[in-house]
Amino acid sequence: MAEESTQDESNGGVATSRDSLSVTDNRTGETYEMEISDGTVKAMDFRGIKVDEDDFGLMTYDPAFTNTANCRSDITYIDGAAGILEHRGYPIEQLCEHSSYIEVSYLLIHGHLPTKAELDYWIHVVTHHTYIHENLKLSMEGFRYDAHPMSMLLSSVSTLSSFYPGAKDLEDPTERYMAVTRLIAKMPTLAAFAYRHNLGLPYNYPDNDLWYTGNFLSMLYKMTEVKYEPDPRLERALDVLWILHADHEQNCSTATVRAVGSSGVDPYTAVSAGIAALYGPLHGGANEAVLKMLDRIGTVDNIPDFLQGVKDREEKLMGFGHRVYKNFDPRAQIIKKHMDGVLEATSGLDNPKLEIATELEKRALDDEYFTDRKLYPNVDFYSGLIYEALKIPPDMFTVMFAIPRTAGWLSQWLEMNEDPETKIARPRQIYTGDRELDYVPLDQR
Ligand code: CMC
Repeated sequence: MAEESTQDESNGGVATSRDSLSVTDNRTGETYEMEISDGTVKAMDFRGIKVDEDDFGLMTYDPAFTNTANCRSDITYIDGAAGILEHRGYPIEQLCEHSSYIEVSYLLIHGHLPTKAELDYWIHVVTHHTYIHENLKLSMEGFRYDAHPMSMLLSSVSTLSSFYPGAKDLEDPTERYMAVTRLIAKMPTLAAFAYRHNLGLPYNYPDNDLWYTGNFLSMLYKMTEVKYEPDPRLERALDVLWILHADHEQNCSTATVRAVGSSGVDPYTAVSAGIAALYGPLHGGANEAVLKMLDRIGTVDNIPDFLQGVKDREEKLMGFGHRVYKNFDPRAQIIKKHMDGVLEATSGLDNPKLEIATELEKRALDDEYFTDRKLYPNVDFYSGLIYEALKIPPDMFTVMFAIPRTAGWLSQWLEMNEDPETKIARPRQIYTGDRELDYVPLDQR
């Protein structure tokens, strides 16, 4: 934003420029001027506002960082009110129409769309790092048969850190590039191994002849056939779903990757922290929660009672609402467009949950309780139904989210490491507890 040079002396004698904020502290009568840049003021500028020399200075209070920008970023642009999502400037609708997840991962990581040669090379390196060390397979075998696959993925990714100790050298661009490549390449393998472990089936090794998404389907489903041939419609549907989940600026898991990464830890560990954040039902676990909710509702007739329960705050309407999208989630609209094709290819149109979901959405969108609060379907309202049609069990849904989000986490991690303004994340608090109590011996309590 251009600096406004016009000075205004009308504010109690304090010279102000137009791109600034004048704040009067009514405790002291002092007026302070703060620079406004990119629509923000710096929280640290408030620290200079004090009642006396000994005062620590004002802090800003923002639980959950709902109105605090934590970084500058040129990766993903979201306008929540207008329902706009762009990666490196390209609208999500165009990427879903023309691109693939592997190309979008290149775009996120490198900042530009690849040339043909760049894309071919990217596909080559990602394809040739899909295998995991055999010892990692053994550590996966140590899990109980019914372990949650997200728990297996989380620990396997953090274990990768011990297989690639060179990744600790954050200053080395080759190490950074290799870690990024390995994580994008190995995430589907780890995810598929976790799935096969739950079923007690032997792990399927990657098939480098197949496309990124086709190879994943092969690692999930291949049985005795010599070569698994993925259905191109399902390969494409998975590509679209993974483009939609590839990045979403400073969401809970990405902010976690940045916070943990800011300590200087290696990217495998930082990404495993992101996986941990994604595990939660309010973030990546939402589509699994949507299916459980639809199962609980059971029939269309029970929808009114369910919605009343939501209004009485006994329930949450999972798959609805978003921190930034307050009119519609553009990803939900794209998913809905692709859903019919997937359901046709998989006979998923018979799923009774589909009717409940469609009717539930319709009634919620007709109800002032939800429209007044700007609650609309988000990306996860329908993604669970698509995954279910692909015969992916609900426990795996969050894992399916983690695979593509890896590109987003890593692009944000790279950007954070290159940003000269990066410091170790360390928020402040408002202390509300007791002070200076005298210790009470155990026998006197
Ligand atoms: N069902 C019922 N009421 C809701 C819901 C919901 N899903 N979401 C928000 N509300 C209500 C909330 O109770 C509050 O009402 P009131 O003002 O009367 O107290 C109002 O709407 C505003 O909600 P909020 O809690 O301030 O919204 P938030 O921005 O903090 O929460 C959210 C965003 C996504 C955590 C929340 O909407 C939610 O829990 N949704 C269900 C879980 C879900 O679908 N999550 C997936 C998000 S999309 C995937 C991703 O991008 O990560």
